[in-house]
Amino acid sequence: MTIKYENECLYFGDINIAELGKDHNTPFYLYSENLILQNLDRYLNQLKTIDSLICYSVKSNSNLSILSIFAKKGCGFDIVSGGELQRVILAKGNTNKVVFSGVGKTNEEIKFALESKILCFNVESFGELNRINQVASDLSTTANVSIRVNPEIDAKTHPYITTGLSENKFGVAQDDVLEIFLQAKKLSNIKITGIDYHIGSQITEIQPFTDAATKVSSVIAELRKNNILLNHVDIGGGLGINYSENVTVDCKPLVDSVVKIFENSNLKIIIEPGRSLVGNTGIIVTKVIDVKRNTNGKKFLIVDAGMNDLIRPPLYNAFHNIKEARIINRKKEKFDVVGPICETADFLGKDRDLATDSNELLVIEDVGAYGFVLASNYNSRPKIPEYIISSGLVKCIRARELFDDMIADEKKYL
Ligand code: LLP
Repeated sequence: MTIKYENECLYFGDINIAELGKDHNTPFYLYSENLILQNLDRYLNQLKTIDSLICYSVKSNSNLSILSIFAKKGCGFDIVSGGELQRVILAKGNTNKVVFSGVGKTNEEIKFALESKILCFNVESFGELNRINQVASDLSTTANVSIRVNPEIDAKTHPYITTGLSENKFGVAQDDVLEIFLQAKKLSNIKITGIDYHIGSQITEIQPFTDAATKVSSVIAELRKNNILLNHVDIGGGLGINYSENVTVDCKPLVDSVVKIFENSNLKIIIEPGRSLVGNTGIIVTKVIDVKRNTNGKKFLIVDAGMNDLIRPPLYNAFHNIKEARIINRKKEKFDVVGPICETADFLGKDRDLATDSNELLVIEDVGAYGFVLASNYNSRPKIPEYIISSGLVKCIRARELFDDMIADEKKYL
């Protein structure tokens, strides 16, 4: 994250946050286009000599303007719903570069994806394979499919975001993989194009990725023996990011080691990164509403952003750095930074050393991925706006939700 103090003021890129807060009501998300492009360039450079496709994982941040940045750079997209496909189309993404993941694709979504001529479905089960064949047959077309293998690897990440264990709902168990490919081969409206896997998110070690790749490469060899030939292998999401320190995580070790494992298979490599492309490119700017010091010594900073705006801390016990927008003449104290929501789970950070006061601004770092997309209207709080720094200017890419818009779908039944 390029966030730094200059003359006692916090700057995100060239933007002085305290100054920005004077004419932009808090709380709000603020992204940096430059940082997104830098992260993408690192992947593109790493993959430039390899037959490959980067499919940005739309779920990590699906704002249309963000999708359009990836679309303009020729990226593909990893989607998990018809809604995400509609977003990709609106952002002028190329549907021929879309892979459709997820365990619960409905027949309507499958139909829409076939009509949109996506690159392939990442198939999660026998039932889904048969439904895709049926919908494709109804449309007199052929569906390209990749089978998602569950490599049964412990990704050593938070249990809620690990996906490659046998107890997880994702992918086809290794014992069933040959069988599902053989079945797919027999279906007249299915064309097998690839194999894919995804073992989880926020994985910070390379080993689980290489273990999974090694397992999948032996599956590919077995398929070949059975005369099942593929065009691509899709290696799932990217590396985790470093939430505690101001360092950019390099995709090189992941790409190098995994590509090496598949080198001899002669397959196109697809990768579906989300967090490592956008995670460190966004902040939330929030205002201190009150400073509460209890007689028992416990201290709270009550801010105007809450768990409905950023749910990662309570949901995954996730850590996000919090910084003061200005250095003021006060000594640091240990605070829990909490929102206005009526839940004890409504915290953004605990035991943080901060020197601040009411009406001062704070910045929550690294919220570009799985931030706004997980926001809700809990406690009847309208969703907060999203801005992006682009060509040195702060541009609005999503207006603050209005109370009237928030209740419009209910009001008509009153
Ligand atoms: N591909 C598939 C099939 C996925 O399920 C995911 C993320 C990705 C790619 C992108 O993974 P990434 O490169 O971002 O690690 N809300 C959680 C993260 C959920 C991740 C779900 N799947 C969080 O805030 O940590």
